[in-house]
Amino acid sequence: MREIISFNESWFFAKTTEVPSGMPQGWEAVTLPHTWNAADGQDGGNDYFRGTAMYCKTFPRPEWDGCVFLELKGAAMTTDVYLNGKHLAHHEGGYSTFRVELTKELREENLLCIAVDNGVNDRVYPQKADFTFYGGLYRDVNLICVPIQHFELVKDGTPGIKVTPVVKDDKAFVTVETWQNGDGEVTVTVADETKTVLSKDGCASAEFLLENPHLWDGVNDPYLYTASAVFQGDEISACFGCRTFAFDAQKGFLLNGKEYPLRGVSRHQDRKGMGNALTMREHREDMELIREIGANTVRLAHYQHAQEFYDLCDRYGMVVWAEIPYITQHMPNGRENTVSQMRELITQCYNHPCICCWGLSNEITASGAVTEDMMENHRILNDLCHRMDVTRPTTMAHVFMLETDSPLTQAADIGSYNLYFGWYLGELEQNEKFFDDYHAKYPERVIGFSEYGADANVQFQSSAPEKGDYSEGYQCIYHEHMLQCIEKRPYLWASHVWNMFDFAADGRDEGGKKGENQKGLVTFDRTIKKDAFYLYKAAWSKEPFVHLCGRRYANRAEEKTEIKVYSNQKEVSLFVDNREIAAKSGNRVFTFEVELFGEHEIMAKAGACTDCMTIRKVEKADESYRMMGGDVVNWFEADDFDPNCFSIRDTLGTLMKNPTTGAIVGKMMQAARASRGDVAEAAAGNANLEKMMAGMSLQSLLKQAGPAIKPEQIQSLNAALQKIRKS
Ligand code: GCU
Repeated sequence: MREIISFNESWFFAKTTEVPSGMPQGWEAVTLPHTWNAADGQDGGNDYFRGTAMYCKTFPRPEWDGCVFLELKGAAMTTDVYLNGKHLAHHEGGYSTFRVELTKELREENLLCIAVDNGVNDRVYPQKADFTFYGGLYRDVNLICVPIQHFELVKDGTPGIKVTPVVKDDKAFVTVETWQNGDGEVTVTVADETKTVLSKDGCASAEFLLENPHLWDGVNDPYLYTASAVFQGDEISACFGCRTFAFDAQKGFLLNGKEYPLRGVSRHQDRKGMGNALTMREHREDMELIREIGANTVRLAHYQHAQEFYDLCDRYGMVVWAEIPYITQHMPNGRENTVSQMRELITQCYNHPCICCWGLSNEITASGAVTEDMMENHRILNDLCHRMDVTRPTTMAHVFMLETDSPLTQAADIGSYNLYFGWYLGELEQNEKFFDDYHAKYPERVIGFSEYGADANVQFQSSAPEKGDYSEGYQCIYHEHMLQCIEKRPYLWASHVWNMFDFAADGRDEGGKKGENQKGLVTFDRTIKKDAFYLYKAAWSKEPFVHLCGRRYANRAEEKTEIKVYSNQKEVSLFVDNREIAAKSGNRVFTFEVELFGEHEIMAKAGACTDCMTIRKVEKADESYRMMGGDVVNWFEADDFDPNCFSIRDTLGTLMKNPTTGAIVGKMMQAARASRGDVAEAAAGNANLEKMMAGMSLQSLLKQAGPAIKPEQIQSLNAALQKIRKS
């Protein structure tokens, strides 16, 4: 048998590259999991520490007469292990488990030093993306003590056992393969059947037949079996599930032969104040929130997540999109790292029934056009996935401006797009137009919706929410539209809200917060479920509830105000100061108009469910609800534009057709490219994007340009256009 000893305690930490020869003095005492970017990785400025740091601890020889291995479940991003001054291992990749044998180098007293580096380089992914690249030993560290003869532990961080259940009709053919450091008998047990097979060249394989298997049926019935194996006293086991996945270009995703639209969310692995150094408690809490809205799928972006979270997905029936961090910017020197990260992801996660596909890359053309080297990198990854796993397809998430006829869209077995129309640019309706055009042009392609979302800061409230105001109200309007868009397109094999939780993107400074991407349905600290959270709960959850939106919009200046209610019940009644003012039947979204005189108790009732809030009439609009610098938006709404002349309200296409206005706008776009650098560069000459942009008003494009274009520049541009009469 084996013994797993937690090794999280009594570490000492310092930001240094020096490998100490003795126990260092004056270092910071830390307990793992630990990240050195818990604070500076979440406060904005994109100036968090990226470099090398050292963890050291001393320990006596374990009382064990077999072999001893060190297991690191998450060391970001590049790691070197030294025992008693000797370099034992180097590992590149910050999201997978890796192990190293210590046995031969152990003494009575030992000094273990681990150098971890999250510095900038051109070959270990990720290097460019919209999330903080935390550094540290941010998951558990263990000693694994095993007999002299034991199952494989080191190669690609393998669990030593691989279980392949193939379900056909009312049977499951289960193959169990194991790897061990020697020959001899391996005893394998599946369900209540045990077989003994011989290990040859370190490999063994046993076949089992399950009649009428109890299927793993997603959130409805995620039944798990266990496969276990014994070799020379060492014992391992793995859970597995019997199910079939299918991906149909018209019907979308099928689970166990039945249409099962994957409708869910994405998740990053970090938390306010903790960075990515999470414990089981945080994993469980995240899973409970995802279950509460009734999601049936999670995209675990943009890297390999903790085994504990895949285990929770197995247990609760969440179908998972797993992926490696081959993201945003292709690096010619990074090819080997993409291969090793994918090999480790599949080796370590293969047994999880929840995983339905392997994600090759995310928005890899966001910072540069498709190149042959990029295509070759994808071909290599695609072939690797097919060699390692014949049971799952590969997928990728394309950035919205990737031309739909690009060869890259065919680099994986199935595809998905990240679209942000109605937030970053353009209008909400462009989302459905994109997919309808795509599906009409490529009816044979399986396509999904890998990302969509809008930022909301729960401080910002408005009686007239609109794109770009970061208000909770606009996030609701956005997601109400998107939910309908998705529900009308069953061919979308999956859709994942970006994102379930606000998360750290230290390069950001917008929406009234530094260092955060606020597209979450839940705040970064998990204390607030934003109103849009309840829209999805109304759509996906069967647990009866009713939710009053706008509780954080307590001070209202308008005489009459809208009260929006989300519920999965068909009838909702609204009470104001204990008096029923209306009852409505509907589907998820119920809106009421209420006159405000003073302070009012508002109650929504649906069946036995109720929700209450207090709002009040105020004379002046509460400025704390508006994002600073919101004037640009007010200015755009001015109605003294001369309709007989051009203005920023005309579409880019219209303005570019007229030589005079085209020259003026062309100069401004040039300025934007100069200031927006790579993104604008990636957009330039992109036929697909130019077609989209031509249909957008210059006003909406300018809003998306963000701080690159100053308000006064927009005003003088509009003044110039207003001087030119439309023929
Ligand atoms: C992209 C990207 C995400 C990012 C998101 C956003 O699609 O894949 O990593 O966070 O957009 O801008 O919010």
